[in-house]
Amino acid sequence: MSISLLLVLVSACGGVDTGEVKVMSVMEGDSVTLNTCVNDVQKTSTIIWTYGPKKDVLAIMDKGSQTSIDEDVLAEMFRRRLKLDPQTGSLSIKNIRIGHSGLYTAEITSNREGTSERVFNVNVTGVFDPEADKLKSVSMNEGEPVTLKTGVTVKRDDLILWKFVQSTKHCVYDAVHNIQRIAKLDGETRETSLDAGEDQIFSGCLSLNEQTGDLTISITKTKHTGCYFLQINSNTGTRFRRFNVTVNATTERGPRTHWEVTGPVVLTAFVLVLIVMGLIICWQKKRVQTTEAQSTDKDSERAELKS
Ligand SMILES: *[C@@H]1O[C@H](CO)[C@@H](O)[C@H](O)[C@H]1NC(C)=O
Ligand SMILES: *[C@@H]1O[C@H](CO)[C@@H](O)[C@H](O)[C@H]1NC(C)=O
Ligand SMILES: *[C@@H]1O[C@H](CO)[C@@H](O)[C@H](O)[C@H]1NC(C)=O
Repeated sequence: MSISLLLVLVSACGGVDTGEVKVMSVMEGDSVTLNTCVNDVQKTSTIIWTYGPKKDVLAIMDKGSQTSIDEDVLAEMFRRRLKLDPQTGSLSIKNIRIGHSGLYTAEITSNREGTSERVFNVNVTGVFDPEADKLKSVSMNEGEPVTLKTGVTVKRDDLILWKFVQSTKHCVYDAVHNIQRIAKLDGETRETSLDAGEDQIFSGCLSLNEQTGDLTISITKTKHTGCYFLQINSNTGTRFRRFNVTVNATTERGPRTHWEVTGPVVLTAFVLVLIVMGLIICWQKKRVQTTEAQSTDKDSERAELKS
């Protein structure tokens, strides 16, 4: 999965707070610019960028000319990622990774103002936490409710999107076609919008929790079987979660009707009545046959007597 949002974060220049540590929160894959807040580097003797608690030198800018790092480990770690602004000496790190988290310090030595420091605490958080990237499988019997949880509390800048594809073959976002958007929650307005999907299969049974963005299907049907994709857009990046939902068919559909409860009793009684009637008919037939037989016997006796 690709990151759909590429952000470039630039630290703000706030007054003369040189001793303060600026905390920068960035998402894995984003780019970040650490601002020296120097207007013209030509007037400044030197800017030395260091990394980590031991202040290993990352880059040096001396009166506009740039010297890159030569320390092996750091060079490898930041290879092709660093850029110094020739005007300001600000440090840009592109396509940042979790391993680049830590303290960055700009030591600025100016002829006029002496030496000052700007310290940045860069906190890189993962786009795909291992929990999120795992496909969650859920199964239930038809008619039962199901809630797919986002695991987050919706913030003001968040946009929650739920998408569905009616197949459980590939629950990979980029690999499936016919994806339908079925629910949306705007964190700012707390507005939810629901879509019953193709053929209205979700008609009247979807709901979205305004606080968490959890999606609930109140009465599941077998046609709700499929992959559900959750996309959480926030101002620090986009996160995804995936669910494989299987709704098992049951022979018992919903609450039993009056007829389903009384039916078997009525049927059994009916069969018993039939059997009894059958027996009575048989018995009566037998009686008729025997009396007929008796009468024919008498007739033949009479005939014999006459002859
Ligand atoms: C980095 O960000 C994460 C998530 O926002 C937070 O939990 C953590 O405390 C932060 N770490 C630092 C050192 O600021
Ligand atoms: C649904 O069916 C599958 C496969 O037959 C089974 O593993 C699963 O436990 C069933 N789920 C429920 C809730 O009965
Ligand atoms: C989703 O679950 C169903 C039923 O357990 C399974 O047949 C299917 O292969 C799963 N899909 C994926 C992509 O894992």
